[in-house]
Parts: sequence; C-alpha cells; structure tokens
Amino acid sequence: MQQIQVHEHCKLKRYIWELPVRWCHWVNALSLVILAATGAFIAHPFSVAHSASDFVMGWVRFIHFTFAYIFTISVVSRIIWAFTGNRYAGWREFFPMRTVKGREKLRDMFRYYLFMTHQVPETVGHNPLAATAYFAVYCIYLAMILTGFAMYALHAPGGAMYRAMGFMYAIFSIPMLHLVHHALPWLLLGFVINHIYSAWLMDIKEHGAEISSMFSGYKFTLKREHED
Ligand code: HEM
Ligand code: HEM
Repeated sequence: MQQIQVHEHCKLKRYIWELPVRWCHWVNALSLVILAATGAFIAHPFSVAHSASDFVMGWVRFIHFTFAYIFTISVVSRIIWAFTGNRYAGWREFFPMRTVKGREKLRDMFRYYLFMTHQVPETVGHNPLAATAYFAVYCIYLAMILTGFAMYALHAPGGAMYRAMGFMYAIFSIPMLHLVHHALPWLLLGFVINHIYSAWLMDIKEHGAEISSMFSGYKFTLKREHED
C-alpha cells in the first residue's frame, strides 16, 4: 500500500492529447453512434408512420447524411493533425512495428492480454496494440466515407460528386457498395466494445487517468518526456 502511495507521488502530470485530438475523438464517437443507428433503420425500416407525409425515412436519411458530413470533416481533420500535431498525435504512433522498441512493447502488451504476465507495460501516448487497431479503424472510416459518398452521389448522375466518385464505380458494383457499407459497421461495433473495456481496464491498472485524459488532455505517468 505504501509503495503505491510512493508511486503515485512520483507521477508526473503531462499534457498528451491536444484539443483537436480530443474533439475529433468525441465528434467521431457521437457521429458513429448516430450513423450506425440511422444506418440500421435505413437497412431495416420499421416505420410506424400513419401516412407518407410523416416523412420518417426522409428524416432518418437527412440525419444520416448530416452526420456523414460532420464525421467526414472530423476524420479528415484528424488525419491532417497526424502531420501537424504533437508526437502522441503523429502518424508514426500508429505504426509501432517500425521500431524495435515498438515491437517489444507490442509483444509485452499481447502477453498482458493473454494473461501471460500481470505487468502492464507503461505507455505515455497510445499503447502499441491500441494504436495498431486505430490504424485499422481509420481504414474502415475511410472505406465507410468512400462507399457512403459513392452511394449518395447516385441521386445526381453526372454531377460533380458522381464524377469525383467515378473511381469507386470502376472498382465496385452498386450492390457491392451497399454490402461493404452494410458489413463494415459490424467490425466497428466489435472494436467499440473492446475499446471501452480496454480504456476502462487501463484506467484502473495504470492509475494514469486514462479515460479522463480524453477530456482534459492530461495523463499521469512515471516517465519524463525524454524517457518515453
Ligand atoms: C462509419 C459511419 C457510417 C455508418 C456506421 C453507416 C451505416 C450505414 C448503414 C448500416 C446503412 C444501410 C446500408 C444498406 O443496408 O444498404 C447506411 C446507408 C447509407 N449510408 Fe451510411 N454509414 C456511415 C457513414 C456514411 C457516410 C460518411 C456516408 C456519406 C454520405 C453515408 C451514406 C449512406 C447512404 C447514401 C446510405 C443509403 C443507401 C441507400 O439509399 O440505400 N454513410 N449507412
Ligand atoms: C463510438 C465510440 C468510440 C470510438 C469509435 C472510439 C475510437 C477511438 C480512436 C480511433 C482513438 C484513437 C484517437 C486518436 O489518436 O485519434 C481512441 C482513443 C481513445 N478513446 Fe475512444 N472511441 C470511442 C469511445 C470511447 C469511450 C466511450 C471512451 C471512454 C470510456 C473512450 C476512451 C478513449 C481513450 C482513453 C483513448 C486514448 C487511449 C489510448 O489509446 O491511449 N473512447 N478512441
């Protein structure tokens, strides 16, 4: 007990997540919940409208497309920030396999999740396993955006958006766009369940204010900046 107190005393308060990272995270999370709910309705309508003038599907689609734009702006902003923000936001964080240290930490994290050790490897920014998953998540985000806008542009064939999406029609048939756009959210759902569990687990195990760090930007770590 005393040792934990000494440990906690030695911890440093450090600014890790800059404002754009935090905003994009919560805007993406909120958009995803709304896009998934409205998307599920578009796929399986269960309208209880009394007449066509209730315009239920119209409103649901309107909300889906409004959040589609918000989500797209947020995802693109975060990608730009990966090239302009601090080191914890930077694109290199998402490829821990590049370095020997990164591969070691990745292995240690795997060992922890496989119950082979009780020791959680301390990480200051994203842990390498989470960062690798985030890269996959961003690929799925981009696939959702591209298939979504390719379907959306079909309302005005020959228009600017339709022409911009031309490469998508060359790769995918229209039913395939629907299938991909319908299937990928299941992977995102799986990620979110695991993600919330892991964030909670690390919050408890690391004593580093993991969850509140996504609101405040600050984490508590044993390491100083040059020791990361
Ligand atoms: C990750 C975020 C998103 C999720 C989880 C999501 C989910 C869904 C789902 C489940 C459907 C029903 C698909 C079907 O069964 O055919 C759907 C439809 C649709 N989504 Fe998304 N979506 C997302 C992002 C977007 C974006 C960025 C756009 C861009 C405009 C978009 C545009 C559309 C369109 C146009 C349809 C309707 C297709 C139709 O008319 O049948 N979605 N979405
Ligand atoms: C739809 C729901 C969510 C999605 C899709 C999501 C996705 C993500 C992504 C992609 C990142 C990487 C951030 C970046 O560098 O841009 C991240 C980080 C993080 N998220 Fe979420 N998130 C969601 C909900 C939540 C919730 C509810 C919590 C809190 C319980 C949370 C806690 C965190 C924390 C603490 C981090 C930074 C942790 C780290 O990797 O070191 N997230 N999340």
